[in-house]
Amino acid sequence: LIDHFQPKHLAGKRVLITAGPTSEAIDPVRVITNRSSGKTGYAIAQAAREAGAQVVLVSGPTSLPCPRHVLRIDTESAIDMHAIVMNEATQADIFISVAAVADWHVINSSQQKLKKTEQGQGLPELQFAPNPDILAEVARLSDGPWCVGFAAETENLHEHAEAKRKRKGIPLLVGNLAQHAMNADTTQFVLFDDKGHQALPAQPKLSAARELILAIAQRHSSIQA
Ligand code: CTP
Ligand code: CA
Repeated sequence: LIDHFQPKHLAGKRVLITAGPTSEAIDPVRVITNRSSGKTGYAIAQAAREAGAQVVLVSGPTSLPCPRHVLRIDTESAIDMHAIVMNEATQADIFISVAAVADWHVINSSQQKLKKTEQGQGLPELQFAPNPDILAEVARLSDGPWCVGFAAETENLHEHAEAKRKRKGIPLLVGNLAQHAMNADTTQFVLFDDKGHQALPAQPKLSAARELILAIAQRHSSIQA
């Protein structure tokens, strides 16, 4: 029903979205992950689809159903997600990086389940290496899509968000306060671009997503005009 009444701001556009957490293996049964539920990214995928886009959703592990008429590709680790995204990125017009990508992976993960007894008195000693920064890498592609980043911060949202936008080299970064957004059904977005910042009202994630998609469509069409 909604389809008939909504203007198609992204008709014919190809939108690539990452969503959810990533999951970094310690051994075959244990992982390191984070508190992202995927709700924001899935709401944005639905809103982009409603706006007429062809949507590819690269998702970390979540318990959410795939939005209708969205192509979902499931991933686990940041390295998996990176490989899929780099394969899809040059076909996309817009990339929206919503996933809470783990910053590190365990380099000495075990092929067998670690036994607490075999550790002797000791504890497992995990060693970490940095994960690729998927968004920053897509933003550096010469034939890449127009990029939107996210930043969930626990404090000093404005300073962190604007610094992050510049560091990643992206035209638009969406900030929100992690305490409010993580696993909640409502959210408040603050949009940071080269002109400054604009706070959207706190609202359910799907209506926030629809407002964000409209803001993205306006900015994307203005650079093309
Ligand atoms: N991101 C990404 N790949 C990573 C880390 C982050 O694509 N390895 C993306 C996220 O999807 C988000 C943006 O970069 O759109 C910002 O992520 P965030 O974790 O807030 O920033 P970091 O640069 O990782 O900095 P920090 O965690 O130290 O705040
Ligand atoms: Ca991070």
